[in-house]
Amino acid sequence: MMKISIIGAGYVGLVTGVCLAELGHRVQCVDVDAAKVALINAGQAPMHEEGLPELLARFDRSEFSATTDLEQAVRDSELTFIAVGTPAVDGMIDLTYVRRAAEQVGVALREKTGYHTVVVKSTVIPGTTDGVVRAALEQGSMRTVGETIGLGMNPEFLTEGQAMADFRAPDRLVIGGVDDRSRHAIAQVYESFTDVPRFLTNCKTAEMIKYASNSVLATLISFSNEMGRLCTAVGDVDIADVMRGVHAAAYFSVASSDGSVRKAPITSFLEAGCGFGGSCLPKDVTALVAQGRALGVEMPLLGSVLGINRSQPAELLTILRRHKPDLEKLPVTVLGLAFKPGTDDLRESPAFLIVRELLSAGAAVTVFDPVAKPVGHAGLRGVTLAESLEDALRTALVVIHVTKWPEFEKLGTLLHKMGLDPLVLDGRRNLMPADFEHYEGVGRRMVS
Ligand code: UDX
Ligand code: UDX
Repeated sequence: MMKISIIGAGYVGLVTGVCLAELGHRVQCVDVDAAKVALINAGQAPMHEEGLPELLARFDRSEFSATTDLEQAVRDSELTFIAVGTPAVDGMIDLTYVRRAAEQVGVALREKTGYHTVVVKSTVIPGTTDGVVRAALEQGSMRTVGETIGLGMNPEFLTEGQAMADFRAPDRLVIGGVDDRSRHAIAQVYESFTDVPRFLTNCKTAEMIKYASNSVLATLISFSNEMGRLCTAVGDVDIADVMRGVHAAAYFSVASSDGSVRKAPITSFLEAGCGFGGSCLPKDVTALVAQGRALGVEMPLLGSVLGINRSQPAELLTILRRHKPDLEKLPVTVLGLAFKPGTDDLRESPAFLIVRELLSAGAAVTVFDPVAKPVGHAGLRGVTLAESLEDALRTALVVIHVTKWPEFEKLGTLLHKMGLDPLVLDGRRNLMPADFEHYEGVGRRMVS
């Protein structure tokens, strides 16, 4: 059992915190947001993440708690994770919060005797831990990293919507450190994961592994979307059929022990859609391209990945205009606001770009998301937020499917039952064309 403090109780910090407590560590999460801290201490989850409320409610305050008192939490622990946000500002990573957290942790360590390890969990551009974080920590603590302070970088690989499951069954543990002692201290946190591949390395490599992991996923998505555009232009070629054929290659298959062959999980990133969103892929690829530029390395591939993604939501509008050139007062319903199913996270969701385009063309827009209910959100001014899927559909002449919520899979049956046959535009390509009177999807244009 270790005593652990975590700075930042957001998606990453909080999930990491409760899961570490579940492993038997004593954990305190620190956040500047007092309301969030109170909610967590009342056993309630501040965001939608499967399994989180159940786990939060299970601990007593000595096992897991939240606080706004950073100094006390750091002093009462032997290892501190920094998990504050790292937003992109003008395409560059904003390290203000990380730097401040590192300095505050340093100040708290001034009065603490004994060895303490500080670990960056936030996604930071390669070089940040050795540079900005080390300097802020040494300045705050007036001590030297490597002597009585250990420093490391341990990226998270949590997918929103299944973050708890990802934590409990990690595919790898990447442990960067300034020295062996730091790496050893971080490895101890994960002692119970005996069969998981471990990568013990320096901090820059750990940072780069995280960026490379997200960049390859983003690249596959944009590749699929670019292929989808060509399929649309050619006509009578459906990207979904094309990708099914691609997925069948032995490279993209996994043989099971019973002899059967199934699709490898990577194929879920080889599908056309209306683009990637979320707190990671767009921001991380943008930050990496900016780092390349700053170092004089052009990154045309990742630059294009972002360019394709930026214009991908508009593909749906192009299809719509083919059918309805005048959108003025046209009742259009957008299904889904969250950037993906299983979360209420709206960050960089393609839904907002689609809504904005619709509004500026004068359409009468209704939106429905089964979980995210962002009443008063600036991006939804002038939009009707429906309470139920049925309400959202009642007056629609066009339905645009944006988030792959399982609730929307019954769309065909529901429309049929309600006696409605709007034009359905599938931005995720998991609906069945045959279920609808009027169906169009990204990456296909049937001519004959
Ligand atoms: C995380 C990582 O930190 C980010 O680098 C990664 O790319 C995505 O995941 P996330 O947990 O999603 O970010 O961020 P967010 O949900 O915004 O949480 C950050 C938390 O830190 C917030 O609760 C915020 O109040 C808190 N915070 C921020 C502090 O406690 N102190 C600060 O100085 C800044
Ligand atoms: C991602 C990584 O998957 C995870 O490993 C990392 O730790 C954090 O970043 P996350 O952002 O939670 O996780 O979601 P992910 O499932 O990767 O989806 C990101 C976006 O890509 C979503 O908007 C999703 O709709 C979109 N997407 C995904 C596609 O557009 N097409 C696809 O084929 C797959």
